[in-house]
Amino acid sequence: MTRLSNYLLPTEKQAPADAEAISHKLMVRAGLIRQMGAGMWTWLPAGWRVHQRVVAIIRQELDGIGAQEMLMPVLQPAELWRKTGRLDIDELFKLQDRKGSEMVLAMTHEEAVTFHVAQTVRSYRDLPLILYHFQVKERDEPRPRAGVLRTREFVMKDSYSFDRDRAGLEENYALHIGAYDRIMARTGLRFYRVESDVGMMGGLGADEYMAPCPAGEDQVALAPGYAANVEVALRHPDIREVGDGDAHPPRYMLGDQVLTIEPAIEIGNIFKLGTRYSEPLGANFLDEAGNEQPIWMGSYGIGPARIVAAAVEQFADEYGISWPRALAPFAVHLIALGKPDTPEREACDGVYETLRAGGVEVLYDDREGQPGEKFADAELLGCPLRLTVGRKSLESGEIEVQLRRGRQQAAGLALGGDPEALLRAVDELWRSLP
Ligand SMILES: Nc1ncnc2c1ncn2[C@@H]1O[C@H](COP(=O)(O)OP(=O)(O)O)[C@@H](O)[C@H]1O
Ligand SMILES: [Mg+2]
Repeated sequence: MTRLSNYLLPTEKQAPADAEAISHKLMVRAGLIRQMGAGMWTWLPAGWRVHQRVVAIIRQELDGIGAQEMLMPVLQPAELWRKTGRLDIDELFKLQDRKGSEMVLAMTHEEAVTFHVAQTVRSYRDLPLILYHFQVKERDEPRPRAGVLRTREFVMKDSYSFDRDRAGLEENYALHIGAYDRIMARTGLRFYRVESDVGMMGGLGADEYMAPCPAGEDQVALAPGYAANVEVALRHPDIREVGDGDAHPPRYMLGDQVLTIEPAIEIGNIFKLGTRYSEPLGANFLDEAGNEQPIWMGSYGIGPARIVAAAVEQFADEYGISWPRALAPFAVHLIALGKPDTPEREACDGVYETLRAGGVEVLYDDREGQPGEKFADAELLGCPLRLTVGRKSLESGEIEVQLRRGRQQAAGLALGGDPEALLRAVDELWRSLP
């Protein structure tokens, strides 16, 4: 039951004064998120629906490569982090419990998962293994910014692979690339997989998934068949800078192709860790000859919040959000123009019941209020299909249809006919959407 008259969707005409990024402005204005403090955000009901759509896609694709879901704590003994040499990271929140024991709030879960694997995996027969969870990460970010793009607390899907040797790691890494490619494609985002710096995780290789968008803090260098993080690209021996003097910004060439540089946001990051964590934490196994060997690991992260925000950034227009259908909080935003107890309102109630009974996810704007405000809220929230029933509909016998992407009017749907026919028509429209 999702009637807007009784749903917490606090839309705003004005964006927060400090908001610069499109996603920050629109997600607050559309009633999806609210701020509690610097880098601390609450997901309101409609926003959380979108977040959880991303989570569902990720879960399906990870289960599909044989990964096993579990849950590890955020509150952890500091000792584990001392062992891996990461206790001194500035972003790591440190605290003490009432007995004075040193604790941390985990910013990632390599330490935790490796600790468990060290205790539970004995032999080569227990490997390979992929473990994952969706869990909150805490990070004392120096500059939380741009709504949910960079927060101090966020949900991450992090998976970890465990193998007997380097060849096994390569296989699990390739499986993750396949899963990540499918996840990103299914979200409807425009994205690139780029070679990345190995960074603080240490290890043997890494790739990033980048979504180009105006609020991106990273930059990707693109040419046909080539995509890389700019820092990596500039170390590429075949890439050269073309001097244009002071008149133009510098340009970069790969062979005879000009590289385009686009701002982008990192939405996922995968690493070949090797034995960086298994060695200090004693995660070993007995090989077929009975010799003890360190386990080879990989680590794979995705931030659903960044995928949500990147989708807002990529597809918004001057009227608001325009969700790809895979992420939309509701498929249909149904607007009743008639006042209660009018025939047009009754007709709209009927459409709502039909859609609901047919399993269509519909947000029903049954509020008192001006049509203009209702239309504006619908375009701000960005559900892919907007259906409207008013007095005109009774005369024409049609439900008015707007496709949010491009704000196109589509052919009306028959009002008051066979419910199955209406459901089929809505389903057909839905499938035609991006
Ligand atoms: N501060 C943050 N707020 C929201 N999402 C984040 C944040 N930091 C990281 N993420 C998400 O988690 C994924 C994995 O993070 P990771 O690569 O460990 O972080 P970083 O690149 O900041 O070192 C990132 O690709 C991103 O989607
Ligand atoms: Mg990263």
